Amino acid sequence: MRILSGIQPSGALHLGNYFGMMRPAIELQEQGEAFYFIADYHSMTSLFDPVERRQNSLDVALDFLACGLDPKKSVFFRQSDVPEVTELTWLLGTLTPMGLLERAHSFKDKSAKGIPVNLGLFAYPVLMAADILIYDSNIVPVGQDQKQHVEITRDIAIKFNEAYGQTFVIPEPKIRGEVAKVPGTDGEKMSKSYGNTIEIFGDEKALRKKVMAIKMDSRTPQEPKPDAEQNLAIQLLKVIDANIGKEWEGKLRAGGLGYGDLKKKLFEVYWEHFAMARAKRTELVANLDYVNKVLAAGAAKARAKAQEVLKRARKNCGLE
Ligand code: ADP
Ligand code: TRP
Repeated sequence: MRILSGIQPSGALHLGNYFGMMRPAIELQEQGEAFYFIADYHSMTSLFDPVERRQNSLDVALDFLACGLDPKKSVFFRQSDVPEVTELTWLLGTLTPMGLLERAHSFKDKSAKGIPVNLGLFAYPVLMAADILIYDSNIVPVGQDQKQHVEITRDIAIKFNEAYGQTFVIPEPKIRGEVAKVPGTDGEKMSKSYGNTIEIFGDEKALRKKVMAIKMDSRTPQEPKPDAEQNLAIQLLKVIDANIGKEWEGKLRAGGLGYGDLKKKLFEVYWEHFAMARAKRTELVANLDYVNKVLAAGAAKARAKAQEVLKRARKNCGLE
């Protein structure tokens, strides 16, 4: 079974990315042949600074390895080290109806906000389909917001198989219900683009401030809170540690727990949860040679598989 996922190098890793995608992906590396990559081609649709792209790509590599990606179990690489995906994007694009892409959130949301859209952004789901199909992937662990992209991938793969004969494996998205949509500090979906993130790696003081600034209502500490499960700090606590979350939900429901103390607890649990990852990341920063070797070895393995599948596709559609 091949498991595949990617993450864009578009900014600092946050709780939503970690619990929605990274942790499930890391857990799945025990269950099959996992391929994980840094989606640097995708980042070109909305990030136009080369220095930032290079730095962000390295950051994703450090984050993933620090959080537990094991290069002995998973193939870890940079998307652009496998240029074959861009050729497959073309083959797939010729069978992709415009309407399918016009309905894609990646394009629709940005164009609705008035952000200038380019061909790359419009074709974003086709490149993502190529990413998935070129490795014969069975399972794609992602957050809820990527589900539509995996469905588009399935549509394109089915069309290609119908037009040119059995070529691609049809992939399944794997979305964890309980962490499909981790809320941000404002209660909306946590996302870099909403400025409501809590980062995994960063300055302790600044992050404590962010957590302590989460808005609560004006009820007194003594009041029982029958709606404790809707409290944002409780929801985040539960995402990080279900048991502690439930325990503190009970305390909040009963009354006598102040929001300040609750947020302090949230910060403590969150900070402690990533202590090991933080230490590991510091080690990796001092050993970038190792990180680059991991990515080079991953690229070689990924590329061999990609060449095999691209050849199959080229043959079936009559290019060879
Ligand atoms: P962002 O919205 O911050 O730009 P990305 O779109 O780069 O995040 O998402 C990277 C991965 O993390 C995707 O698989 C996405 O589904 C997942 N993800 C992002 N935000 C959340 C969230 N709030 N809850 C759960 N998963 C998330
Ligand atoms: N679009 C994904 C995101 O923004 C990243 C991505 C690119 C991806 N290619 C992929 C995820 C293939 C899963 C499979 O998060």
